[in-house]
Amino acid sequence: MAAKPLIIAIANQKGGVAKTTTCECLAAALHKKGAEVLVIDLDVQANLSTYAGAVSGPTVYNVLTTDKNRMMDIGETIQRLPWFDLCPSSKDEMGNIEAELNKNPIAAMFTLRDRLEKSPAISKYNVVLMDCPPNLSYLVVNALCVADVCLIPANRDLGSKEGIEGLLDLIKSVQDRLNKKLQVAGIVLTRTNARTKIGQKISGEIDAMAKECGYKVFNTQIRQCVTIDQAHDDRKNVIYQYPSCNISLDYTSLAEEFIKEFATQLMLRR
Ligand SMILES: Nc1ncnc2c1ncn2[C@@H]1O[C@H](COP(=O)(O)OP(=O)(O)OP(=O)(O)O)[C@@H](O)[C@H]1O
Ligand SMILES: [Mg+2]
Repeated sequence: MAAKPLIIAIANQKGGVAKTTTCECLAAALHKKGAEVLVIDLDVQANLSTYAGAVSGPTVYNVLTTDKNRMMDIGETIQRLPWFDLCPSSKDEMGNIEAELNKNPIAAMFTLRDRLEKSPAISKYNVVLMDCPPNLSYLVVNALCVADVCLIPANRDLGSKEGIEGLLDLIKSVQDRLNKKLQVAGIVLTRTNARTKIGQKISGEIDAMAKECGYKVFNTQIRQCVTIDQAHDDRKNVIYQYPSCNISLDYTSLAEEFIKEFATQLMLRR
């Protein structure tokens, strides 16, 4: 059997909780530790592609489209960047993809899985990370149907617990009906700063909810750190460009926790 990478969906329907930042930083931290890493930008906003310094060319639209004239193998879309390989998104084209997929709603849920399974380009990777949009759309269902694990970034704002609960309901439906192997890797708290009372209260609620569901909250918390905005503006990856700032140290520590948890899947799949 051909080697198969560990496939990770990074999702939370709540906006601005650092899904994209977690995806690009965890990917770069794993790459720096020697893993072959592919990132798929599934978000129509294409923030990750912009931040990572992608150039124009074929995109994930070409992987997902049902238009035979535009369809491509994912291998033809991948850009080799210094921090990881990237299948980028495109604001212009990805805006239409949900409507396109909606023409056959059943097949639509498995489009990404079918395209990745058929691609000879995937087996060289140890890990594939997918950055999901801030909703529970077909694109998120596609990511959950192909993923081995889902990682949930969450901040300590009001409404975080409700956001996670909605995603966990969707994950449960996917596990029951569409992808039995899907596991919840856990919740990672992002953008934490001084221990405000409300932040601690929400952390406590998230901990209690995770415990009740049997899910892990990662020991590593990602501290608030403005260097990330500088790295985004530079179109460089913070892990490579500013390795000693707090956000780089924290995502490196998250990568170490992740490797410990998924050592078997990450290493033996080579
Ligand atoms: N640890 C951090 N410290 C400071 N700023 C951060 C941190 N993590 C993320 N940010 C900033 O917060 C903003 C939102 O982050 P990001 O785009 O990763 O969130 P998202 O969940 O992907 O958002 P969306 O739901 O729109 O896709 C960005 O401007 C990013 O630079
Ligand atoms: Mg995002």
